Amino acid sequence: MRVVVGNRPLLEAIAIEKSFDYKLFEDLSLSLYAKQSVAVMGRSGTGKSTLLHILSTLLKPDRGEVLIQGKSIYSFREEEIEAIRRKEIGIIFQSHYLFKGLSAYENVETATLLAQTKIDKSIFELLEIDHVMHKKVSELSGGQQQRVSIARVLSKKPKIIFADEPTGNLDKESANRVIDALNSYIQHYNAALFLVTHDFAIAKKAQKLYQLENRRLNIR
Ligand SMILES: Nc1ncnc2c1ncn2[C@@H]1O[C@H](COP(=O)(O)OP(=O)(O)O)[C@@H](O)[C@H]1O
Ligand SMILES: [Mg+2]
Repeated sequence: MRVVVGNRPLLEAIAIEKSFDYKLFEDLSLSLYAKQSVAVMGRSGTGKSTLLHILSTLLKPDRGEVLIQGKSIYSFREEEIEAIRRKEIGIIFQSHYLFKGLSAYENVETATLLAQTKIDKSIFELLEIDHVMHKKVSELSGGQQQRVSIARVLSKKPKIIFADEPTGNLDKESANRVIDALNSYIQHYNAALFLVTHDFAIAKKAQKLYQLENRRLNIR
């Protein structure tokens, strides 16, 4: 039997603070473990996207630390951060960024070339798009396009997935499919999910659900 010593979170935020015109949050701490999904809800303008950008290395907080696998991301050299962004982190937005003239398959291929991974068809099955991968993006429905853009991100095999309103443009059935696929991905690949959403039905599928309000993350 193997003993696992020190089960560190994949991602930790320690006492982070950020202001733009007003203070969005302060003394905000959070841990995200492998196989764990965390959802954040909150009114528009409370700083959910800003928090996601800070946690995903895209933005620096005014105070506090973000640790990835136990190391402060501000201690990494620029090349190391770029490698983390390219390989370890996957970010999914409400609107997708696909090449319209290419097929769904070719879109995923460009991402795997950059991340130096192989295309894994099980991801297409997970997202129920395996039968449309040969089609041009412009021939797919909105829900299918969003799932292709998610396949593009997951094909890099990221350890931490950040999703900012990923189901905002989807009908209920497509939204459920997307969230179920993300949750199976993190179980299967020992990854973690940080999800921002307005949709309570989607948010409550996460293991932990927070509300960002009064500059704090409160458990719901
Ligand atoms: N890069 C930026 N520069 C200036 N203000 C910003 C920037 N990003 C976000 N903000 C402001 O911070 C607040 C929170 O924005 P955001 O994080 O997008 O909130 P949410 O995602 O919860 O709706 C808003 O008032 C927004 O205008
Ligand atoms: Mg937002």
